[in-house]
Amino acid sequence: MAFSVPFATMLPPMPLDLGVLISGRGSNLQAILDAIGTGKLDARVRLVISNRPGVQGLARAEAAGVPTCVVNHKEFASRQAFDAAMVETLREHGVSWVVLAGFMRIVTPVLLDAFPHRVINIHPSLLPAFPGVNAQAAALAHGVRIAGCTVHLVDAGTDTGPILAQGAVPVLDGDTEESLSARILHREHEILVHVLDAVAQDKLVVEQHEGKPRARLLGPALALGLQDVLHDKPTEVST
Ligand code: GRF
Repeated sequence: MAFSVPFATMLPPMPLDLGVLISGRGSNLQAILDAIGTGKLDARVRLVISNRPGVQGLARAEAAGVPTCVVNHKEFASRQAFDAAMVETLREHGVSWVVLAGFMRIVTPVLLDAFPHRVINIHPSLLPAFPGVNAQAAALAHGVRIAGCTVHLVDAGTDTGPILAQGAVPVLDGDTEESLSARILHREHEILVHVLDAVAQDKLVVEQHEGKPRARLLGPALALGLQDVLHDKPTEVST
């Protein structure tokens, strides 16, 4: 029997056209740039936008030859107007996916509707625990023994969108907010690149589940960090 192959499936996949939004240090941006540079990630960073001038992430982008732009939220009367300015600039640069990489602003439907199911965030906790700011300090204050990070699609809530990947790290005796944050940050870089690679390979599926979108990545399940947090073998349970 003859099969007709849709033309689109015969084309080689195009690199992902990313716009990365930052507010500061930009180490997650650097992880993306490094993965592209070493050929691990088939993507192009078309534009880096910072809402703050003079931050380290802008220098990282410039060093990599990536166009940068400051869209200062303080110059806009509303969150919507701020997002509209970013959308215009992202579109001008041919961006198709937006990554919030340490971007410390709440985004509105103006941005989300311009890139439906195409805005990704990295958050330094195992969501849904500890959404919002100071997640690592909150994890320490609650005495959790396993902490980590989450990459998720962004929706209108704060860190509530469909989860794409999570990475775990142990909380060690004597941890401070700084030491725990550094351990989590290393894991953030791994799972963010993992997710973007899956997206670049067209392995992201968004489905409706009980009336809400749920996302999954095709291929082997990612369990980054579980070997680090499993100190003991699971106890055998007899029934
Ligand atoms: C990361 O911990 C990220 O999860 C959080 O802010 C931090 C940004 O770090 N949203 P960097 O700017 O990517 O170095």
